[in-house]
Amino acid sequence: MIARLLDAVVPLARLLDPETAHRLTVRALASFPQPASTKPGPLATSAFGLHFPSPIGLAAGFDKNAEAWPGLLSLGAGFVEVGTMTPRPQAGNPRPRLFRLSEDHAAINRYGFANEGIEHCLKRLHDRRRSGGIVGINVGPNKDAEDPVQATADAVKSVSPFADYVTVNVSSPNTPGLRDLQARGPLTELLDAVDGARQTDGKKIPILLKIAPDLDAVRMDDIADVVQASALDGLIVSNTTIDRPASLSSAHKSETGGLSGRPLFSKATRTLAEMRVRLGGSLPLIGVGGVEDGATAYAKIRAGATLVQLYTALVFQGPGLLSRIETDLAERLREDGLSNLSDAVGIDANAIVSGTSSSETVRAA
Ligand code: FNR
Repeated sequence: MIARLLDAVVPLARLLDPETAHRLTVRALASFPQPASTKPGPLATSAFGLHFPSPIGLAAGFDKNAEAWPGLLSLGAGFVEVGTMTPRPQAGNPRPRLFRLSEDHAAINRYGFANEGIEHCLKRLHDRRRSGGIVGINVGPNKDAEDPVQATADAVKSVSPFADYVTVNVSSPNTPGLRDLQARGPLTELLDAVDGARQTDGKKIPILLKIAPDLDAVRMDDIADVVQASALDGLIVSNTTIDRPASLSSAHKSETGGLSGRPLFSKATRTLAEMRVRLGGSLPLIGVGGVEDGATAYAKIRAGATLVQLYTALVFQGPGLLSRIETDLAERLREDGLSNLSDAVGIDANAIVSGTSSSETVRAA
């Protein structure tokens, strides 16, 4: 009912400038009470020791300051990743910094980690009931951090007691130098530092790494090697791209920033398959980038994702999309004669990487 109401309101919000529309949506979602429990759906699944009621979650950036997660969980998100939060508050880049590319079903953003800072955001997570759904916290260093590795480790230490999992973001294109942390040497140092920082009450919170889709084969090899030698629990593939595909037709297509939504799907899905092939099933992957319906969510799973996240399509379609995707995914699994989601994970990865896939959605990747 509430999802339907919001689905009706979302197209109207598009009449406003994108950042104002987003602020209003977050405010509306923040007024929801915390869900006491989230019922497992037909595709409930487990990864890094957590039980997800649905494999479809909200990607980072939608709920930067940890305000909207109660509403998002109530509306059927299997999990919500809040952040990116930085150790100190950060104003981010000047407005405008978010652009809707409606004709392309896409967005470009250059927020630059605009957020209220970890200490402030955590106040909204203090009394969170652990039984009320899964909330991951995505962290990164401030733009002016003298030592980004240390700053990220400090951030992990601060948020670990309040998170179900923590994501280390080394892939935003809007913080100069951040993506360099994906190189072999700095990444080794970073993963060591965050592993040491995550201990809380004798329990190790799962740590995930979020990578860019703009990586060449050598960089992907390096990441796979470093990840396999580390204690990392999962990989999120991917963040936004700095590419501008020739297919883009919207007026804002040349704005600086990260491109998300439909035009990111093929690149992000390819990167996902590449990492799946390199890592085998050794750790779970979260597929994100251009998911907008059951077909694209299923393609992510077949390319190697255990869980799926989305952001941009929600802006165009409203929160009812979350449950529509879940229902459609369950139907697709049935049609393929698969009884579990896990049976589909990665079955197209080799074909995508070698370019021999026969599936239409995957060929599009
Ligand atoms: C993002 N994204 C993002 N990612 C992240 O790790 N930290 C962040 O702060 C943000 N901020 C952000 C703001 C906006 C406006 C957008 C559109 C995206 C990236 C996001 O989590 C996701 O990886 C990409 O958007 C790709 O998914 P979709 O949007 O194509 O489903």
